[in-house]
Amino acid sequence: MAVTQRITLNQTEYHHHLTIISPSSGLSLQGRIQVPGDKSISHRALMLGALAEGETVIHGLLLGEDPRSTASCFQAMGADISALNSDEVRVRGIGLGKLIEPLDVLNAGNSGTTLRLMLGILASHPGRFFTITGDGSLRSRPMSRIVQPLQQMGAEIWGRKDGSLAPLAVRGETLRPIHYHSPIASAQVKSCILLAGLMTEGKTTVTEPALSRDHSERMLSAFGAEIIVDPETCSATVVGRSTLRGQTVVVPGDISSAAFWLVAGAIVPGSDLTIENVGVNPTRTGILEALALMGADITQENLREVAGEPVADLRVRYRQGQNGMPLQACTIEGDLIPKLIDEVPILAVAATFAKGTTIIRDAAELRVKESDRITVMATQLNQMGANITELPEGMEIVGGTPLMGTEVDSHTDHRIAMSLAIAALTAQGTTTIQRAEAAAISYPSFVETLQQIVQPSQH
Ligand code: S3P
Repeated sequence: MAVTQRITLNQTEYHHHLTIISPSSGLSLQGRIQVPGDKSISHRALMLGALAEGETVIHGLLLGEDPRSTASCFQAMGADISALNSDEVRVRGIGLGKLIEPLDVLNAGNSGTTLRLMLGILASHPGRFFTITGDGSLRSRPMSRIVQPLQQMGAEIWGRKDGSLAPLAVRGETLRPIHYHSPIASAQVKSCILLAGLMTEGKTTVTEPALSRDHSERMLSAFGAEIIVDPETCSATVVGRSTLRGQTVVVPGDISSAAFWLVAGAIVPGSDLTIENVGVNPTRTGILEALALMGADITQENLREVAGEPVADLRVRYRQGQNGMPLQACTIEGDLIPKLIDEVPILAVAATFAKGTTIIRDAAELRVKESDRITVMATQLNQMGANITELPEGMEIVGGTPLMGTEVDSHTDHRIAMSLAIAALTAQGTTTIQRAEAAAISYPSFVETLQQIVQPSQH
């Protein structure tokens, strides 16, 4: 039987576009797959490996463009990092406080995590001077959220618009510890301050309004730093100047990448997909909570702990609800938002297949991600026939309008590119996604996996 799904990847001068032609006879998604390594954990493994004494061995590193940016920045500051390979990467650390002054501008590319976490490390390296930049998207993203607390610690940082935009220049200083009450639940802000605190005599604490991902706390502790966490008050404290020792890190599959297949399996009729080896750290599983609220059939199998992070296989099966639609609308808000912040674009796709009106609120942070994910998702999905209204801090999605193939654009945002590709699977006719190459930031093999799981419909 011929597979009626066709995917072509064409190259123009600068960009790729991805064309997905959905067959009128339908398709389903079947199989067991793995997703690439977790992006957040990959960055941290490279950074802590570079700051540790001895060797760190990383298994399962994400080979996306973002961790490559982190690796090249730390190589420029003296860390010895072997060729990037998903089986094994070896990092020979140079020890806390011993990064060398780079000869050129450090380039974080598209990666907010690289720039923001690294700034905390650099600001606490006395006597050295650093300049950091990034691509057009990163240069437009807010940096005051890290620059201000670092300045409270005594950091010397300069940048455009009073230090609120990259490129940034930093002169490393001996910092003083602070207790920072962050106005936003952001793991990048929290991690930046904790990493600055690592080099600072005394206790540095960050309290946030809701718990954000805790990979930094877990990994710092595994590398030997003294870390005190209080989930009740959403606080984390680092006791400065403990020595980090190189470790073996096993990076689990990225739940933010698995999210595309979880939603695809839940909305494409007849699908049955298992995604193996996915990180299910409770600060990251908001997507599972939201999809459960929407009535999706997802089970966690083989739950285990690997190198300090919980891991499971996730199975999703399409199930048609009583109302003829696979999902039901829900409200996603409050403390759930930080636990699924990167999954809102694909949840917007899920919501177009939900009976009723889904409301996403308290998600203003989406406006300052790799793109303004509220405006971009609303305009692109509406172009395909969805019914989405932007809210200042979220969106309102009326489910049940059929999607139609058309030309859409990722706006160079990796998660938008992949969310639109999943929407295209269910759209009538041909969808062309411009600038789809952005997917390689976090998921270079996305199209190959899609081709692997698409089957002609049995219905
Ligand atoms: C990340 C934290 C989140 C997330 C980003 C990765 C991290 O950003 O959106 O993709 O690895 O710490 P914020 O801290 O800005 O919420």
